[in-house]
Amino acid sequence: MDAEAVVEAVQGVVARARTLEEALESTTRVVHESSQKYDWTGIYLMDGAHELVLSRYVGAPSPHTRIPLGEGICGAAASQKGTIIVPDVRADPRYLACSIETRSEIVVPILHGDAVVGEIDIDSHTPHAFDETDRRMLEQVADLLAPRIARAVVTP
Ligand code: SME
Repeated sequence: MDAEAVVEAVQGVVARARTLEEALESTTRVVHESSQKYDWTGIYLMDGAHELVLSRYVGAPSPHTRIPLGEGICGAAASQKGTIIVPDVRADPRYLACSIETRSEIVVPILHGDAVVGEIDIDSHTPHAFDETDRRMLEQVADLLAPRIARAVVTP
């Protein structure tokens, strides 16, 4: 599926979702199924100011259901409020292993204004799996989710 089609599909599922959980679940599925290189696709949400908590995901269960902002690629991307692409996880000391098969990773913060409200995390068994096309597509997906997440957090 090309990037434009993925963004369009996510726009549709987010608009139709009745709850935040449904929006995250459908988005995770659409994104995961859009590329064979995506072997684990998950969305973390901020829990308070200093920790990420795993919400919906597709793939093998991860031991990292809670990640403090100072840890992992996930913590680094949230702290610096910018996307991180890791072409070879074995060469990055920040990497927290989720599966021994993972070789590369992309983490895209979900920003609402200046605040990180969550992030999209994708692992691949293929080294160097992620490029600028993945980044642009996932940053657009993050922008679609941001208001929905912010609204749910402010109005539980
Ligand atoms: N690899 C991530 C941890 C999450 S698992 O990949 C699902 C990290 O280094 O932060």
